[in-house]
Amino acid sequence: MKFSSSIAFVAAALLSSVSALPSSLQPRAVVYGAAEGFAKGVTGGGSASPVTPRTTDELIKYLGDSSPRVIVLDREFDFTGTEGTEVGSGCSPWGTASGCQIAINKNGWCDNYQPNAPKVSRISYDKAGVLGITVASDKTLVGLGSKGVIKGKGLRMVNGVKNIIIQNVHITNLNPQFVWGGDAITIDGADMVWIDHVKTSLIGRQHIVLGNGPSNRVTISNSEIDGRTNWSATCDGNHYWGMYFTGSNDMVTLKGNFIHHTTGRSPKVAGNTLLHAVNNYFISSPGHNFEISAGGKVLAEGNVFTDASAPVESGMTGQLFTADNGSACRAVLGRNCAGNTLNNSGAFRGSSTDFLQNFAGKNIASASSSSQVDVTHVGFGRI
Ligand SMILES: *[C@@H]1O[C@H](CO)[C@@H](O)[C@H](O)[C@H]1NC(C)=O
Ligand SMILES: *[C@@H]1O[C@H](CO)[C@@H](O)[C@H](O)[C@H]1NC(C)=O
Ligand SMILES: *[C@@H]1O[C@H](CO)[C@@H](O)[C@H](O)[C@H]1NC(C)=O
Repeated sequence: MKFSSSIAFVAAALLSSVSALPSSLQPRAVVYGAAEGFAKGVTGGGSASPVTPRTTDELIKYLGDSSPRVIVLDREFDFTGTEGTEVGSGCSPWGTASGCQIAINKNGWCDNYQPNAPKVSRISYDKAGVLGITVASDKTLVGLGSKGVIKGKGLRMVNGVKNIIIQNVHITNLNPQFVWGGDAITIDGADMVWIDHVKTSLIGRQHIVLGNGPSNRVTISNSEIDGRTNWSATCDGNHYWGMYFTGSNDMVTLKGNFIHHTTGRSPKVAGNTLLHAVNNYFISSPGHNFEISAGGKVLAEGNVFTDASAPVESGMTGQLFTADNGSACRAVLGRNCAGNTLNNSGAFRGSSTDFLQNFAGKNIASASSSSQVDVTHVGFGRI
C-alpha cells in the first residue's frame, strides 16, 4: 500500500471512528516501508490507535508518556516563544560579519574552547529551541503529507529509550543564529531508532547528534540534512554542525540520505561507532564531509559526492573502507561492495577492512550501484 493512500485511510478512520470499522479494515500502521539495516524490525507505536495532537502541549504529552503511541502530525507545531526568551553571553570565534554564527557560552564553551574569541556580552535566544522534546519508548511519530512541521524545538531520545520511529517530519528553526541554540535530533542512550524521510533545516547546533551513551541500533534513511543558512560557523552560507555520531556502542545505518550545503561533521564519527554509509548523496560541501576520529569505523559504499571538496577530512585517526565494486565485502556482507562516485570532488580513500567483521550477524542494508542514487523521493513530504 502506498503511504499517501494509507495515510488518507487513517485520516478518514480518525474522522469517523476507528472502532466502527470492521477489524479486517482497521489500519495497523501508518508507517511507509520498513527500516533496513541495524534498526530493522523496529515497530514504534505498533498497532496503537493513531492520535493527532492539536497543540504543542499535546504533542509533548503524547511523545513523553508511557503508552505505546502512533502520533500523526497534521499541522505545524510552533514552539518558538512557548518557553520564553533566554538572555546570556557568548563569543564570536568566526567574526562578527552578518553571515557568521555566534556561539552561546553554554556550559562555559566560549571560556573553555574559544578563550581568544571576542566576547559577545548579550545574546537573546528562544529557550524552547535549546532542549528537544523527550521521546519515550514505543512511539511512532509520522507526518501527514507535507504538514508535519515542528518549528523551534527538536526531539530527544535518551536514557535507554527504545523502539521509536520518526518519519516524514520537518524539524526547523532552532535558533539558527547561535551555536548551542539547539539540536534537531538527539539520540543518547537508546536502541532501535529509525529516522526516515525527515528533513532538518536552520538548526543552531547539530542536525543529528548521537551522544556518549550507547545508541545501539539506529537507522537514518531517506532524510534530508539541509545545511543552507544565513548564519554559518564558516560564514559562507553552509552549516558546519551536520551529524555527530559518537557513543560507547553505536551501530548506525545511514542510507539514501540527501546531505547538502554543509561544511563539517557530515558526519563526524567517533567513540565506538560502526557506521554503514550507503547510497547517500552529498552535494555542495565546500568543507569536509566525513571526519573520522579514533574508534570510528566506517564502511562507505555506493555514495555519490558532487562538488564536495573533501569527502573525508585529512588526518583521519579512525578506520574507513571506501569500497570499490569489488569482492572485499563478500565474506561478511555476502555480496560485493558498491563503489562510491566522486564528481568534481576531492579524494575519498580508506582501505581498512579488518573491522568489517563487526558486521557479522547484524542486519545490514543492501547497497545499490552509485549510478542508481536518486534523491527525487528523499526528504520530507515526498512519500
Ligand atoms: C537568507 O536571507 C534571505 C533574505 O532574508 C532569504 O531570502 C533567504 O531565504 C535566507 N536563506 C535561508 C537559507 O534561510
Ligand atoms: C562502480 O560501478 C558503478 C556502476 O557501474 C560506477 O558508476 C562506479 O563509478 C564504480 N565505482 C568504482 C569505484 O569503480
Ligand atoms: C557533476 O557535477 C556537476 C557540477 O559540478 C553537475 O552539473 C552534474 O550534474 C554532476 N553529475 C552528477 C552525475 O551528479
